[in-house]
Amino acid sequence: MKRITLAVAALVAAALVAGCGERPPMQSQQQGYRGTGMVQVDNPRIVARQKAAEPAVPELPPPGSNDGPKARDVYQNVKVLGDLSVGEFTRHMVALTQWVAPEQGCTYCHGANFADDSLYTKVVARRMIEMTRHLNADWTQHVGQTGVTCYTCHRGKPVPAQVSFAPLTPKNNRVGSGLGFDAGQNKAEPSIALASLPYDPFTPFLSGKEPIRVAGTQALPSDDHRTSIKQAEFTYSLMNHISKSLGVNCTFCHNTQSFAIWTDKRVTAWHGINMARDLNNAYLDPLQKTFPASRLGPTGDVAKVNCGSCHQGVNKPLGGLAMAKDWPGLVPVVAAATAAALPPPVAEATRSVLYFGVGSPVLEGEQAKGLDRLVATMSAQKKSTVTISGYHSAAGTLAANQELAKQRAFTVRDALLAAGVAETRVKLDKPKQTEANVAGEDPVARRVEVTVR
Ligand code: HEC
Ligand code: HEC
Ligand code: HEC
Ligand code: HEC
Repeated sequence: MKRITLAVAALVAAALVAGCGERPPMQSQQQGYRGTGMVQVDNPRIVARQKAAEPAVPELPPPGSNDGPKARDVYQNVKVLGDLSVGEFTRHMVALTQWVAPEQGCTYCHGANFADDSLYTKVVARRMIEMTRHLNADWTQHVGQTGVTCYTCHRGKPVPAQVSFAPLTPKNNRVGSGLGFDAGQNKAEPSIALASLPYDPFTPFLSGKEPIRVAGTQALPSDDHRTSIKQAEFTYSLMNHISKSLGVNCTFCHNTQSFAIWTDKRVTAWHGINMARDLNNAYLDPLQKTFPASRLGPTGDVAKVNCGSCHQGVNKPLGGLAMAKDWPGLVPVVAAATAAALPPPVAEATRSVLYFGVGSPVLEGEQAKGLDRLVATMSAQKKSTVTISGYHSAAGTLAANQELAKQRAFTVRDALLAAGVAETRVKLDKPKQTEANVAGEDPVARRVEVTVR
């Protein structure tokens, strides 16, 4: 009997020990200078399992041409995506559906009349488009060139998997809550890695601007050094949330010899904290009246963004997949900048290159001056002849692009003829598609090349 009890005890003990840790192998990767103890420890087996469990990113058509009539002019109630061509607008609608409501389809945001704004989901979605643009344009210090799309947070679901609400606490629910006085802590919330710490670090830090500080900046107690234990606990609660959301150790961002030292990753994280605050205050909070009561939290507030909303367990959301660049409606600055930033025209004795705006056969600004110089060259060299070739990008429909390339070549020919250059000295080549074309709207692709002999 004794032996059996012992054997059972040994088995139980073994099970307990096994349950306490992760089965090796473990891999560690140095994150900072030698001696700072900055390492990230991962278990490749668990990382591989997490990767395999991730749903596949929806496959969507590649960027098309933004040439042709604009959504603003064709539809009735387009307030944000008006600059897109009808084709690109439709591609964006298909993407929104795949990213946010693939099971529900277009009717998640639209009734019988697509122009109607009566469903709250459409009103929210329009604001979310503006929010995503703001992220990609104004928060590059955090999201870099990787950027964000609706999919970064939504992953095929109308409500992102990780959001936070202000919880019911004895403070905001004194009467008859039956919660007891828990001082806002010790509830083992998954969002803070089940720690017995304050369970709402979100309201003070990701909506409010409470200082996230533990260490004093002076050696001796002073007015500057009044951080309470409770304040430290809130800081640690947020830090647990951050570590859990990114799937990293504290030493991913901190040098454990001094938590107060700033590292590259900590700086990025600091921008992330400010960014989350900005999203919650400027975009989500003001939508409170738009959402139906069923979507609001226990205290009537709207769902808010935290680090987990985008990161969902990895240090770079979706493993650093750069999706945003394919969606001009969500990266307006990039689209506007490429349209404005044409390379300077080439105006040499034997060769001219002139660049055009998106969908345009007209030469403007600097490019028009380049054309003037070509005309001057041809007027001066009475015996030389020219060959004009119009180029177009690979984006959009071939027939429309060839027509556009032809019109661009005509622009240059007509300018020469108007200046008195004989027709026999001007030869037109067939429209050509440029070989390399980056992300739909490469300005270098929209050009006319002129060879002078
Ligand atoms: C997640 C919400 C959402 C989904 C899903 C969605 N749309 Fe939209 N749709 C919008 C928003 C927001 C606008 C307004 C855009 C703006 O103001 O720039 C819009 C506008 C439109 C318009 C312009 C209507 C007008 O006359 O003003 C059309 C057409 C349209 N959507 C078609 C579709 C189609 C087709 C689908 C399904 C493939 C779809 N949408 C799915 C949010 C959505
Ligand atoms: C930074 C994260 C984030 C990004 C990026 C984001 N959303 Fe959201 N979205 C949220 C949060 C948080 C909510 C509020 C959750 C809720 O509805 O309770 C929300 C709610 C919505 C809702 C309401 C859903 C419902 O059923 O209540 C729609 C529709 C929506 N988003 C569309 C979009 C579209 C379209 C995009 C891309 C243009 C987008 N979102 C990008 C975080 C995000
Ligand atoms: C992704 C980066 C990141 C991770 C991971 C992280 N922290 Fe932090 N930590 C920060 C940032 C950013 C601040 C400063 C915030 C501010 O100044 O607004 C900070 C501040 C702190 C402070 C206050 C330092 C001071 O100057 O008083 C302590 C203590 C701290 N973190 C501990 C931890 C612990 C413990 C963990 C692991 C559970 C952790 N951190 C994980 C980014 C991180
Ligand atoms: C709107 C989505 C979004 C939210 C919310 C967000 N992040 Fe990020 N974060 C990103 C993207 C995208 C990147 C990748 C940037 C890149 O590739 O350069 C990133 C990168 C980082 C990195 C650098 C990782 C590395 O390996 O270099 C850190 C650290 C980080 N985020 C911390 C945070 C913290 C802390 C929070 C919460 C306070 C947060 N993020 C909230 C989108 C987000």
